[in-house]
Amino acid sequence: MLITLLCVLATTFSALVASQSVELAGKVGPTSTLAKKLARSKCDITKHGAVSDGKTDISTALTSAFNACKTGGVVVIPSGNYALSNWVTLSGGASWALQLDGIVFRTGIEHTSDFELFSSTGKGAIQGYGYKFHQQGSISGPRILRFYKVTNFSVHDIALVDSPAFHFSMDTCDRGEVYNLAIRGGIHGGLDGIDVWSTNIWIHDIMVTNKDECVTVKSPSKSKFLIASHEPTTTKDNVLVEQIYCNWSGGCALGSLGADTNVSFITYRNIYTGTSNEMLMIKSNGGSGTVSNVVLENFIGHGNAYSLDIDQYWSSMSTAPGHGVQLNNITISNWTGTEANGKQRGPIRIICADGTPCTGINIHDFDMWTESGNSQLYSCRSAYTDSSASPYCLRSDKKDTAYNLSTMTVTATPKGYAAPTMSADLASPTWGFTASIPIPTIPSSFFPGTSPLKALAGAK
Ligand SMILES: *[C@@H]1O[C@H](CO)[C@@H](O)[C@H](O)[C@H]1NC(C)=O
Ligand SMILES: *[C@@H]1O[C@H](CO)[C@@H](O)[C@H](O)[C@H]1NC(C)=O
Ligand SMILES: *[C@@H]1O[C@H](CO)[C@@H](O)[C@H](O)[C@H]1NC(C)=O
Ligand SMILES: *[C@@H]1O[C@H](CO)[C@@H](O)[C@H](O)[C@H]1NC(C)=O
Ligand SMILES: *[C@@H]1O[C@H](CO)[C@@H](O)[C@H](O)[C@H]1NC(C)=O
Ligand SMILES: *[C@@H]1O[C@H](CO)[C@@H](O)[C@H](O)[C@H]1NC(C)=O
Repeated sequence: MLITLLCVLATTFSALVASQSVELAGKVGPTSTLAKKLARSKCDITKHGAVSDGKTDISTALTSAFNACKTGGVVVIPSGNYALSNWVTLSGGASWALQLDGIVFRTGIEHTSDFELFSSTGKGAIQGYGYKFHQQGSISGPRILRFYKVTNFSVHDIALVDSPAFHFSMDTCDRGEVYNLAIRGGIHGGLDGIDVWSTNIWIHDIMVTNKDECVTVKSPSKSKFLIASHEPTTTKDNVLVEQIYCNWSGGCALGSLGADTNVSFITYRNIYTGTSNEMLMIKSNGGSGTVSNVVLENFIGHGNAYSLDIDQYWSSMSTAPGHGVQLNNITISNWTGTEANGKQRGPIRIICADGTPCTGINIHDFDMWTESGNSQLYSCRSAYTDSSASPYCLRSDKKDTAYNLSTMTVTATPKGYAAPTMSADLASPTWGFTASIPIPTIPSSFFPGTSPLKALAGAK
């Protein structure tokens, strides 16, 4: 298949330096600066035979430029229209960067350390033209960007558009920083934004428009892989997700979780979710292992179906072996805004596995209200809190006993539920599932009242 790619932009180079973590247990991001890599070597794909005519396959040129610069240098894809007909896996580099000011189509990056993928202008994009698969009824094409065993890396200031399948997955990676991204996919299930099962990852300032996962922490259900290891000497976060704009998406999640789940020290903070399936879901069905020490704070929602949705009998996955994944020490605080219909789909839904009742589900300052009707529902099953007050529908008595669904209907409007909206989130998508999706502009804010934690490229 020949893919035509289109992107127009200028190339002023700004020095983007290696990043440091604020909250994570250790340092994330590349270990050496871009300036240092540029000083060593720069490999422009057009000097390796790439033609920016939108027709000629650049896979050989890209591979050749990568081979020339993969140890210590910078591979440059300048602005222009490129076609990439063959899958390219850039495997085995060290201390390198990929400056994407033009376009790359579906690239796999493996076994790399000290790596940076970025656009110096903020206008570089990977256009997946997924609609070519989707119009034929397939959502199982390639992922646009797949990182496997990449260590000490960053990805920033690019757009990922219309992936045939997931947009960006990080599998078994360590010490990464991912920021200032706009992801826009078809409005359909199976086209996830960011999926991560890795350690020490900081994801911030991301906008996702699709109709499936926004930024989701996963565990492969069959293998025993650690998502976020807890180093006993630290109590810091190992996966930190903040300033996320799930704009017409599926919403964020932990899951789906199956056998041998081992997830801990995950923080989601300052998450804005509009017109999505949920604000945050923890999903499993059967399974084993644990999810612990999770913080979900400062969430704003508007127009979503579900809000907080813990479902350990999730019917969209087949039952995994085991009595259930044990959830423990999950703090949910400072959620405001509104849900679409709180009587139909209440903002608090905590359905835990009878075989492994949830413990330490602690909810504070949860003030959400319904957009239609005048009541909303809280529902709980086998879910326990540490608080003796048994707030919402949670219980605080014997913590190891399953209990049946219990619901609470709320008719009093919670004080302080009102929350700002993002100015750009009300329009419905104007593109369909069968036509090309335009490349979005990276927004200047990803959460009400905040600026990106790192300046947008090209903003200077
Ligand atoms: C990643 O960076 C850390 C320091 O931040 C360093 O200790 C570690 O060796 C690096 N890993 C690799 C594979 O280069
Ligand atoms: C989860 O990972 C931690 C850190 O490596 C380890 O100490 C713990 O035993 C694991 N737990 C399970 C249930 O595998
Ligand atoms: C619960 O999780 C939080 C956040 O990771 C952590 O700071 C706290 O120590 C945990 N509490 C217990 C009792 O383990
Ligand atoms: C609660 O979240 C809002 C943003 O929705 C933030 O402005 C406020 O500072 C947070 N409150 C606390 C106590 O963290
Ligand atoms: C829940 O209720 C159903 C019938 O409504 C009953 O069969 C089941 O045993 C109950 N489960 C628990 C854990 O009480
Ligand atoms: C948010 O999504 C809507 C609908 O898809 C779109 O019209 C709008 O441009 C998006 N917002 C931004 C900031 O791109």
